[in-house]
Amino acid sequence: MGRITFIAGNWKMYKTTAEAREFARRFKELYRGKKAAEVKAAVIAPYTQLAVLVEEFAGTGIGVGAQNVHFADEGAYTGEISVAMLNEIGVDYCIVGHSERRRYFAETDDTVNLKLKQLLAKSNIIPILCVGETFDEREAGIQEQRVAEEIRADLEDLDKADVAGMIIAYEPIWAIGTGKTATPAQAEEMCGFIRRTLDRMFDEETAADTPIIYGGSVKPSNAPEIFAGSEVDGALVGGASLDPDIFMEIFDR
Ligand code: PGA
Repeated sequence: MGRITFIAGNWKMYKTTAEAREFARRFKELYRGKKAAEVKAAVIAPYTQLAVLVEEFAGTGIGVGAQNVHFADEGAYTGEISVAMLNEIGVDYCIVGHSERRRYFAETDDTVNLKLKQLLAKSNIIPILCVGETFDEREAGIQEQRVAEEIRADLEDLDKADVAGMIIAYEPIWAIGTGKTATPAQAEEMCGFIRRTLDRMFDEETAADTPIIYGGSVKPSNAPEIFAGSEVDGALVGGASLDPDIFMEIFDR
């Protein structure tokens, strides 16, 4: 068993406010008083569900996160949400650079970098930076090169104090929502590689202290083997986080 410290559920574009409230009531009941409480939990929800989740999870230790944010303070950016708006709601986390944002919404390493800087400068919100290679990149054997390039670009101009306040999620694109999971060895290898990359870019302490989690079709049945690796500090769970009982089963592994 590795040192599992953080498990977050990423709801993506699922659940209405009523459904979010129902989930929260069941999930906090399950979380309370369980050994799960030793692992930090968070629910990363659509913007319109954040306030209800913050209200429902108050005092439970369960965190709430946004799935994206804009890098400007404010402005004529129809459809976007600023860090100040997230601060006001009181969210704890914000995903930056999820592969679905990169793929469908033209997120680039440049915008990811600006968003990280904005979160770090203007809030205490913990960024969850997502990185990962495509199927073709893995087939070509260049997955480490790809992930290292992504991390270097995404963290450009940041210093070790900035990175110490972040979580990095390794999410191989080919494993997200596909039912394909990286083998425990692949997850372990890449999380270890990310840690060595942070060591080279910053220092050993930063590398050791940054939680590096795995995401991509994690479910109760495969969580134990993924969590067995000593480099994997937790998980970002998509599909299997939508049902509170199934999501909680992952904490019990
Ligand atoms: P998945 O999603 O567990 O449904 O593969 C993971 C994620 O995108 O964070």
